[in-house]
Formats: sequence, structure tokens, C-alpha cells
Amino acid sequence: MDNQSPERISLHDKYFRKHIAFEEIALRTAGIARQIQADYADKAPVFLVILNGAFFFASELFRNLSIAGAEISFVKIASYSGTSSTGKMKQLIGLDTRITGRHIVILEDIVDSGLTVHELSHDLQESGAASVSIASMILKPDALKYPVEVAYAAFRTPNDFLVGFGLDYDQLGRLYRDIYIAE
Ligand code: IMP
Ligand code: MG
Repeated sequence: MDNQSPERISLHDKYFRKHIAFEEIALRTAGIARQIQADYADKAPVFLVILNGAFFFASELFRNLSIAGAEISFVKIASYSGTSSTGKMKQLIGLDTRITGRHIVILEDIVDSGLTVHELSHDLQESGAASVSIASMILKPDALKYPVEVAYAAFRTPNDFLVGFGLDYDQLGRLYRDIYIAE
């Protein structure tokens, strides 16, 4: 297991050190699952996972949820290049689920400027969603530039760049089970 959980890693031109252990991620995610379970028990929500990064967080969350009528769908959106947001969004895989009248919970890995979830929430509301809320593994409150409300956040962190547990640095680092911080 050690090769999956080193203290320090290098990806491309940067070094990262271990920051949040998987056990802590699992604990906090289970906490969020309990809140969502209570809030959506009778709402048959659609969980909309933003690929690729939120895939790990979503699967950890789903292990702790059982809601009648819940559905899972995926969108693929990219706004990042390297370690900074490009300010533009590309929807690479679109929505294939009927949204009208449904309660949507967006699942995101990190809310940084908020652009991604802001635009997606807007599109979903335009498509006639009954409600839209956001659950993010990580929220960087000081980086927010768009008016978004993150109802469920497992961690709040400063503006450091993170990788692991789904988070990447130019596609590398997603597969680590812990979260690492740039040195
Ligand atoms: P936003 O649209 O500016 O909120 O950016 C959100 C997206 O940027 C997330 O979906 C991530 O893919 C990516 N991102 C933001 N911060 C980080 C980070 O620290 N590590 C890895 N990806 C990040
Ligand atoms: Mg992302």
C-alpha cells in the first residue's frame, strides 16, 4: 500500500507533500452524506458528477447514501490548464438526463473561482430543474469570484494547489488515495 501513499511526490515540474489522509476524507465525506441523506430523503435527487476530478469523491459519497429514486449522471467540464483557471469553460460531455422538475445535487472536486459550478447551476436552472445545490470535496473560500453557495463542503482550504483523490495537475496525480499540497 505504501507506493500508493508516499509522503512526498513529484508531478511534472512540481513537488507535493501529503496533506489530507484518505481516512479523514472518508470521515468528512460520510458526514456530508448524512446531511444529504436527511435533506434529500424524499426528493429523488439527480446527482450530477463533474468529471474527471469529482469521480473519487462521488463514489465515496455514494457508498454512504441510500435514497429512493436517486439517479446519477455525469458531465465533463474543463476550465483549468496547469495550476490556474482559464476563465473559460468547455463542456466536453453533455447532460443526458432529464432535468426538468428534478432536484439536482452537483458533485464537484474543488470549487475555486466558482466559475464551473456557477455556469452549470445556471444551465440547470434554465433547463427547469426544481432545485440545484452544490456539494464539493474542497472549497477554497478566498478564491471565489462568482456568486455560488456551496451547501456541502468536506474541507475548506487556503488557495494552495492540491492533487490526489481525483485531483490532478495536468492529468497527473489523480490516483493517489490521499490529498497532496504543492510545496
Ligand atoms: P473553478 O471553475 O475556478 O471553480 O475551478 C474548478 C475546477 O478547477 C475544479 O473542477 C478543478 O478541476 C480545478 N481546480 C481548482 N483548484 C484545483 C486544485 O487545487 N487542484 C486541482 N484542480 C483544481
Ligand atoms: Mg474539475
